[in-house]
Amino acid sequence: MSDTAILEYGGKRYEFPVIKGTEDELAIDINTLRATTGMVTIDPGYKNTGSCESAITFLDGEKGILRYRGYSIEELAEKADFLEVAYLLIFGELPNKEQLAKFHHDIKEESQVDEEMKKILDGFPKAAHPMGVLSSLTSALVAFNPSSVDVSSEKAMYNSIVRILAKFPVLVAWTMRKKKGLPLDYGDDTLGYVENIHKMMFKRPNQEYKKDPIAIDALDKLLILHADHEQNCSTSTVRIVGSSHAGLFASLSAGISALWGPLHGGANQAVLEMLEAIEADGGDTKKYMAKAKDKDDPFRLMGFGHRVYKNFDPRAKIIKKAADDVLGNLGIDDPILDIAKGLEKEALEDPYFVDRKLYPNVDFYSGIIYRALGIPTEMFTVMFALGRLPGWIAQWREMRLRKEPIGRPRQIYIGENLRPFVPLEKR
Ligand code: ACO
Repeated sequence: MSDTAILEYGGKRYEFPVIKGTEDELAIDINTLRATTGMVTIDPGYKNTGSCESAITFLDGEKGILRYRGYSIEELAEKADFLEVAYLLIFGELPNKEQLAKFHHDIKEESQVDEEMKKILDGFPKAAHPMGVLSSLTSALVAFNPSSVDVSSEKAMYNSIVRILAKFPVLVAWTMRKKKGLPLDYGDDTLGYVENIHKMMFKRPNQEYKKDPIAIDALDKLLILHADHEQNCSTSTVRIVGSSHAGLFASLSAGISALWGPLHGGANQAVLEMLEAIEADGGDTKKYMAKAKDKDDPFRLMGFGHRVYKNFDPRAKIIKKAADDVLGNLGIDDPILDIAKGLEKEALEDPYFVDRKLYPNVDFYSGIIYRALGIPTEMFTVMFALGRLPGWIAQWREMRLRKEPIGRPRQIYIGENLRPFVPLEKR
């Protein structure tokens, strides 16, 4: 096969190199396109555009494959814990015992959040959406940690990374505790990373914290499954904001805002609200299937479809089983789970969904587990952000280490041509 692609335009012939990834993915390298032809490409939604070369996550949407640094998501979800996966994503290799212990130690050293941050949180109304609060608090962290912006050395970069891995779970827990009217506590450094997150979220002021291995295990798995997904909307946002050298925390804050949307991470909240609405409406799944297929109805089956997966989202398979296990182990009989399974069954047999290759995505079942764990619906996307944190960090770090140029797409202008200014009195 030729390793160049030919473009013919206006009687001229141009050659562009074709590059191949380690999984044989091909791309036409158009670095010189504008300089040699005067043209740009146009690709709304970037459906055909690779924004970078990356060694972090591989996914094949046709085959339903997802791997972090070469390890299958199925194996990682079963055998690793979230902190190991975070290390793997960020630094490229699974840590040995000493590396993992040092990483955890360094995180624990940074696990306090300035008390002044509580005043900022206090300023938000209780009804504020937790994603808006979290994005603001993450941005505010810059003011309390100004040295985290200048990451010109690997050491400074490492310090910023452990700092945010330490403080972000505190912000997540505080956001939820404020919503529930609970005091803003700190964690316990004698606990594991996810165990500590569980404690910070659920510890009641008048009760001793009891470890809940089923809940902690489920949380660990969900965080791993959400930890990275290559160049999605929020990750691309983190990379492009970071490409201006705005600093890690500011880039993450922008990523949280991007994740909030219902077409992205916000889908997990939308799924549960949809399932609750169907239940309240008598549980008639067929009615909602018809609405989803009706082009005059804006309703979409939330938790179905994916830009990249045109086959089963491998994460959805793991989460569906986990939802069964968690609800079974906790002795919860949730009618919402039955509605979800009913919708899934109908969609997988329906030509509309089959022809468009619409399968359940990661968000279809995750909310059912979060609900079983006692996490309020509005916090679901925050949980997604907590899981995605190491992926965003890994992608930001890779972008900085590869010294990628500032992200600055081109456009094709379709507005007015030059026209004379009309004074106000003549308009
Ligand atoms: N329900 C009904 N129809 C759908 C759905 C759905 N959930 N998803 C896609 N379709 C239809 C579209 O109407 C379109 O039909 P048409 O070809 O007849 O016009 C076709 O399938 C293709 O859909 P697009 O919107 O063009 O696909 P795109 O790749 O742009 O969007 C997206 C992907 C945004 C995920 C979409 O499937 C969707 O809105 N799903 C529901 C929201 C959701 O679950 N988002 C979470 C994604 S996972 C994540 O971000 C973590």
